[in-house]
Amino acid sequence: MSGKRVCGRGLLYRRDISEVLFYLDPRFRGDDSIENKRKGMTVQSVYKWNKVIDRRGTASVKWDRYRNTPVLPMWLADMDFMAPPEVLAALHRRVDHGVFGYTGPPDSLVETVLENLDRNFSWKVEGDWIVWLPGLVTGLNVACRSVGREGDGVMTTVPVYPPFLSAPGFSGRSLQTVPMKLDGSRWVFDFDALKDAVTDRTRLFILCSPHNPLGRVFSRQELETLTEICLAHDIVICSDEIHCGLVLDESCRHVPTASLNPEVASRTITLLAPSKTYNIPGLACSFAVIPHGELRRSFQKAAAGIVPHVNTLGYTAAEAAYRYGEPWRRSLIDYLRGNRDRTFSVIQGTRNLSTTPVEGTYLAWIDARALGMEPVPFFEKAGVGLSDGSDFGAEGFVRLNFGCPGKILDEALNRMVKALDTL
Ligand SMILES: Cc1ncc(COP(=O)(O)O)c(C=O)c1O
Repeated sequence: MSGKRVCGRGLLYRRDISEVLFYLDPRFRGDDSIENKRKGMTVQSVYKWNKVIDRRGTASVKWDRYRNTPVLPMWLADMDFMAPPEVLAALHRRVDHGVFGYTGPPDSLVETVLENLDRNFSWKVEGDWIVWLPGLVTGLNVACRSVGREGDGVMTTVPVYPPFLSAPGFSGRSLQTVPMKLDGSRWVFDFDALKDAVTDRTRLFILCSPHNPLGRVFSRQELETLTEICLAHDIVICSDEIHCGLVLDESCRHVPTASLNPEVASRTITLLAPSKTYNIPGLACSFAVIPHGELRRSFQKAAAGIVPHVNTLGYTAAEAAYRYGEPWRRSLIDYLRGNRDRTFSVIQGTRNLSTTPVEGTYLAWIDARALGMEPVPFFEKAGVGLSDGSDFGAEGFVRLNFGCPGKILDEALNRMVKALDTL
């Protein structure tokens, strides 16, 4: 993109910010009048993290599970916050254009993605390596189909985000799982068990980094050891890095698996999206980065004719998020740290539950085995809807999503503590 176009985009962007204030639903505007906003508004002041937004009646998967009940939905991984104002503004402008024909990935989006990966992770990616996808789960399934052949093994560690466990079977591959192990208060890879589990049919390792549900941000050293095992056995790595913008622990840095060294890069399919970080999963825009030409072509072949294009508004939102969303993201991270800390101390203060520090994501992984009963129905009865650990390959655990206004989180935690007190 030329310098002139960037400048033009900047002017549009400033106009967008004032425009978006008009579009915001009056219910979510807070107490200031629009006029005051127009005079003194800063981008910062529209981040109303404490504001409870009513998502009922919006066909929200997360909220509709408990439709017409008082249960607070703390399960599915989306946040109860508005997307960055810059994203809303860009969407409004695109909608106002009014024509929604078939759309390809804008050059300016590709440019922003490459800049972001370089700036944030010192990872130099070429535009040709990107394959656009309408979802990360799609990417996981295509990866399973594109490596090896039917009957081959796909390995992952458990617990893990449930589609990691279903994708191999959907592709006629056999699932090989290796449990993570607890080292003090950190979940870590069991490298000996991983080595032992590899067979001559293991072709693919699917990695979740940062990890959902364990909240780990893996160190360079951990990733190096893991990828050495994979390379030694000629195993391709599919690295789902959807949570890479949500590193909460100041001492951690996300390291893209493919950035470790060129050999690893040539064996890695990286899956990325702005959806988790900027809270736009419903807009379904994601991408795979596949540096190796042959691997990329086999991925594209497995997707051909089946995987649809990314939708027009998804591209628009993704570009605005990556290009302008950094101040919003930083503010979000601060807010999530507060929620994470309260969740940790409340859960650790109970007799029957325990949890581990969340380095990244907005998800807390809670060991409820000491309850001696199925935890999800117990907490639903208490008015809190959690994700069931057995879906992640770990019975007796639950996952709590703290990506919500503090008021909702505190109410959910209070309900959980009260219910435990009755035992
Ligand atoms: C690790 C991981 N991958 C993929 C997804 C879903 O991605 P998508 O909605 O793009 O299919 C999630 C959602 O929670 C996730 O946590």
